[in-house]
Amino acid sequence: MKWFGLNRTRNGLKSKIDWSSHLPKHIAIMMDGNGRWAKRRGLPRSAGHYAGMQTMRQTISMCHKNGIESLTLYAFSTENWKRPKDEVDYIISLVSEFVQETNVRELNENNIKVFFIGDISKFPEVTQQAMRKVVDETEENTGLKVYFAMNYGGKSDIIQAVRSIVKTKNEEEITEEEFEQFLYTGNNPCPDLLIRTSGEKRLSNFLLWQSAHTELWFTDEMWPDFNEELLYASILDYQNRKKRA
Ligand code: FPP
Repeated sequence: MKWFGLNRTRNGLKSKIDWSSHLPKHIAIMMDGNGRWAKRRGLPRSAGHYAGMQTMRQTISMCHKNGIESLTLYAFSTENWKRPKDEVDYIISLVSEFVQETNVRELNENNIKVFFIGDISKFPEVTQQAMRKVVDETEENTGLKVYFAMNYGGKSDIIQAVRSIVKTKNEEEITEEEFEQFLYTGNNPCPDLLIRTSGEKRLSNFLLWQSAHTELWFTDEMWPDFNEELLYASILDYQNRKKRA
């Protein structure tokens, strides 16, 4: 099935959203619960990650269709290296799978621009090549920006920004606005809404600086079960909070 061809009819919450104001421009997602989703079904963790990748594709499509400007996905944290090698290798292999020609074509057809944030130099060369390929081949696109956080950690993001900024700026030039340019997210606006699935309610080293003013939204659903209704629920909740503020 073509993932951009999805046309779900369950749009109960969609009609409750006021699409003219107070919408999140940048959504960040902690895609948590793949392992538990698989375990509950008696499947290996890899099956959960594979299902998680399909949900990730559908979520990109949903954000594209609903006019979201930026989407940041926490796909591999600096802590994830501590997992068993088989599992790490499998998650990394999903990147190459994602970048397969057909997906890049669909990204281009939908004007989606891809970025990676994090220290990708730690990944195998073949994976880095796949990452560079999708970044290069979607470079001209001007629609939804998708940021994959890979080997990303909020603390290491801040450290790498500090290391860079002290090389180029004098002490008095270092302001919050200037510092932000040196983070992996650069000029991209900070997330308006951060979603975490699986019932966990922690930031887990994701976008620590960038989420200083972000609205947080949690669901007990495991990531592979995330769907359009949950996305609309999060947007509606965000909108209601912002209208009250
Ligand atoms: C968290 O669930 C999920 C991950 C660590 C991996 C997420 C990766 C993908 C969805 C695919 C990435 C693909 C690309 C192209 C970037 P968990 O394993 O921590 O779940 P658990 O808490 O239930 O064990």
